[in-house]
Amino acid sequence: MCDHPVRPLPQYGRERLIVPAPVGWVGTGAPDVEPEMLARLGQGTVMMMGDNPALPPMPDRPVLLDFFRHRFGAFTVRHLLTSARRALDDGMEEKIVVACLLHDIANGCLIRSDHGYWGAQMIAPYVSEEVAWAVQYHQALRYVPDPSVGYDYPESYRKFFGADFVPPDYILRDAEHARGHQWYMSARLVTMYDTYFFEDVSKPIDPDFLTDIVGRHFRQPEEGLGFDGSPTAHMWRTMIWPNNFL
Ligand SMILES: [Fe+2]
Ligand SMILES: [Fe+2]
Repeated sequence: MCDHPVRPLPQYGRERLIVPAPVGWVGTGAPDVEPEMLARLGQGTVMMMGDNPALPPMPDRPVLLDFFRHRFGAFTVRHLLTSARRALDDGMEEKIVVACLLHDIANGCLIRSDHGYWGAQMIAPYVSEEVAWAVQYHQALRYVPDPSVGYDYPESYRKFFGADFVPPDYILRDAEHARGHQWYMSARLVTMYDTYFFEDVSKPIDPDFLTDIVGRHFRQPEEGLGFDGSPTAHMWRTMIWPNNFL
């Protein structure tokens, strides 16, 4: 039996059109479908708002791991869970495990560009300042080697961006700031567990092993993520209803 409460489908009986988010298609060569969609609006056709039946239903009061189970892409989920698992197995402090779990959370179902900054902002109301800080600065520190801890420029980045890629100034500036900060090692440890391995997405990993640690380090709002009125509740709602027209 499904343990999720069934919400009545909004806009019942009509065709619901989805206009993709601009950040997902601008510059890709995909056409701007909005004019065509607007032209199709009529009696039986509306712009999608609310639950999309193509997505798994979310509970009325979603908790963090619901987003891992029902919204985030399989690749990101595996990457985050593997990163957290390895930090845990190495005996890292729980705050580091949680930072590893959350470091690429923006990539799960929201946005990729400047993912560290978006992710840090999204989780800031619910985690310690240090965890959010580590998530923000892991993005810049990924580009900057630190031989004292054996961290090299990632081979994967040479593949992603080309061997001649030079990170932009704001990244180097923020990495420099991070290197002099008291929490530097927390962000650095995130970068050290931020590797791609076992990326076989055919076998999902159950995030259950993290339930207790998440319970201690992520302040789950009683109303559910997205509905607590926090400064970032809208980001969580956007992931619950990613296809809303407005
Ligand atoms: Fe990242
Ligand atoms: Fe990562």
